[in-house]
Amino acid sequence: MATALITGASSGIGAVFADRLAAEGNHLVLVARSQDKLTAIAQDLSQRYGIKADVIVQDLVEPDAATQVFTTASDRGHTIDMLINNAGFGLHGAFTTRDRKIQLDMIQLNVMALVDLTYQFLPGMQARQQGSIINVASTAAFQAIPYFAVYAATKAFVLSFSEALWHECSGDGVKVLALCPGPTETEFFKVADFPNEMAKQVGQNYASPEAVVEDALKALSRGQSNVVTGGLMNQVLVNASRFFPREMLVNSVGRFFKG
Ligand SMILES: NC(=O)c1ccc[n+]([C@@H]2O[C@H](COP(=O)([O-])OP(=O)(O)OC[C@H]3O[C@@H](n4cnc5c(N)ncnc54)[C@H](OP(=O)(O)O)[C@@H]3O)[C@@H](O)[C@H]2O)c1
Repeated sequence: MATALITGASSGIGAVFADRLAAEGNHLVLVARSQDKLTAIAQDLSQRYGIKADVIVQDLVEPDAATQVFTTASDRGHTIDMLINNAGFGLHGAFTTRDRKIQLDMIQLNVMALVDLTYQFLPGMQARQQGSIINVASTAAFQAIPYFAVYAATKAFVLSFSEALWHECSGDGVKVLALCPGPTETEFFKVADFPNEMAKQVGQNYASPEAVVEDALKALSRGQSNVVTGGLMNQVLVNASRFFPREMLVNSVGRFFKG
């Protein structure tokens, strides 16, 4: 049986990854800040599927978070075959009107923790000549998004970084996938403080986290470098920069995101 370490496993897409992988018989290491939620999920999954589910409570914004997670997982005897860098958040609003520290924490979580966890767990996978890493990016990775500027930039980083590693690891038996979901029904928009009206509009296009996870695992098994989940609208959006001038696209996205 393989062991998957999932960050942001206490809700949304991460919790669905946990459920789906447990159903397939994988052991789990679940990481997030909410101890109660993680413990409840771990107990439920180990009872339902007969797998081992361990919990590491960690705020991944802490600068040494990845080292803490890696050391704890190693000390507890886990060999991580699959790393799912899923924890992340956004913040809606004009860049200078929103809290400085929250936006810097976003970079720390969405980018720095993801890179550092990958740096720490990948060499073991390369040495064993097997493993997989799913980095959760977003359809927001494909163009600048005014009023969601830092978030979109972090996801552009995740997409670029993951595609590069996909190539670097291709001879190592390690698969790397950038998962790019469109709007998905989770806590994300509430946490990102979207205005109600805009959240409702975006919500008309919601995918379920189950569908996102299904698409991700299919793409991983096919050896793809990235996957854009959801319907046709998401495919159109991520390809728009190939057909329209960048300024036109960013202005049009900006008009929508200003609200
Ligand atoms: N929902 C969407 O529409 C959408 C679209 C594209 C991409 N994504 C991406 O999908 C990923 C998962 O988000 P979601 O939609 O499932 O949202 P969510 O329901 O809000 O889940 C976010 C997860 O990240 C964890 N997290 C947040 N801050 C953390 C921190 N400082 N340290 C450790 N864990 C932290 C949360 O757990 P705790 O609060 O317990 O720490 C939670 O488990 C994110 O990377 C997001 O950017 C989402």
